[in-house]
Amino acid sequence: AGDKMMAGRFVGSTDPIMEMLSASITVDQRLSEVDIQGSMAYAKALEKAGILSKTELEKILSGLEKISEEWSKGVFGVIQTDEDIHTANERRLKELIGDVAGKLHTGRSRNDQVVTDLKLFMKNSLSIISTHLLQLIKTLVERAEAAIPCFTCSLPLSFPSHAVALTRDSERLGEVKRRINVLPLGSGSLAGNPLEIDREQLRSELDFASISLNSMDAVSERDFVVEFLSAATLLMIHLSKMAEDLIIYSTSEFGFVTLSDTYCSGSSVMPQKKNPDSLELIRSKAGRVFGRLAAILMVLKGLPSTYNKDLQEDKEAVFDVVDTLNAVLQVATGVISTLQINKENMEKALSPEILSSDLALYLVHKGMPFRQAHIAAGKAVHLAETKGLTINNLSLEDLKSISPLFGSDVAQVFSVLSSVEQYTAAGGTAKSSVSAQIEQLRELLKRL
Ligand code: ARG
Repeated sequence: AGDKMMAGRFVGSTDPIMEMLSASITVDQRLSEVDIQGSMAYAKALEKAGILSKTELEKILSGLEKISEEWSKGVFGVIQTDEDIHTANERRLKELIGDVAGKLHTGRSRNDQVVTDLKLFMKNSLSIISTHLLQLIKTLVERAEAAIPCFTCSLPLSFPSHAVALTRDSERLGEVKRRINVLPLGSGSLAGNPLEIDREQLRSELDFASISLNSMDAVSERDFVVEFLSAATLLMIHLSKMAEDLIIYSTSEFGFVTLSDTYCSGSSVMPQKKNPDSLELIRSKAGRVFGRLAAILMVLKGLPSTYNKDLQEDKEAVFDVVDTLNAVLQVATGVISTLQINKENMEKALSPEILSSDLALYLVHKGMPFRQAHIAAGKAVHLAETKGLTINNLSLEDLKSISPLFGSDVAQVFSVLSSVEQYTAAGGTAKSSVSAQIEQLRELLKRL
């Protein structure tokens, strides 16, 4: 324990298994760059506060620069005693520039350091995720637009339905970004900073929108982690819904769409099979992401105020969800942009029975209350069934036996095209309505 950074009050050595349990370096070395960024800003603030001389600051900054290079070249040597990324970087700084490295942590705690690092990391990650998400929404809109001529297939309406849900996810991620944008650095371990550190300078240096209001809250709140994971969960649930639709549509029984081979795999047993692995994985990752959210909520529940080591768990969850979203969003975009729409199979699947609600609507237009019209149309379905016919093949006499309101103009009901075209109200299936939806989505996209 002699070479431990905080060895002063400890006697003897730590249980090696305890050391393993406690160490987070294998996970949090992903924060190496942002940790250095935070330290550089803090060093500058220390110089301004009179704790570091100009030369000391130069030394520290160039040492940090060197460490940053080592990380980016993949040559930083993590050693056994490096507990986490913060102690590892500082240990290396001391090796490079000597005892002056020991001044860097004045007035700072790993508690305000780690949450600052995590926020810096998430700011970058959320921008990348948002870009991938926008690309997916754009792809859905483009494919919907291209599918409009295939008026009888459900895709011109269903692609935008997923796109609309995803625009809400995009807005939610934007909200999370705003919440992340509050700088905790300068909160110390829990009580603030005793050195008259200029937090406003830290804020502008690290490009945050504002500084945290209360140090006890700042070092312990992980609301932004929970909000990110829950926005991510909802996003994944939307992707899972879309994936499930497409899995069904791509079965040989439906054959509405054919997935590109690029996003499928073969079966080891059945040579004819093409498995929609991409979509199945998207569906399953929704469970994985929700699991991360549930885990963090359980960690937070019951914690007292200020930092507790329990909070170390947050990073693994965030990294995993960031990686999952990045992969899943790009694959989803690939699947959507390459899938083939099989118009003929969709048309073949249209049975005249789907027009029975139009038959009821016909009677509504003749003045019958909807509830009665629904029953009359149901009777027509039943009559056709007993006669072994489809409803469009019932004779006018058959229909008249159900209601005298049926006339020869009933024939026009049995057209899928006019059925689709009658849903003209905003949000419906009519070509004009779908085009308007697409137009509005394009407008929304400009603002996301
Ligand atoms: N590795 C720790 C974490 O990830 C850093 C904070 C340590 N602070 C402490 N009081 N033990 O949360």
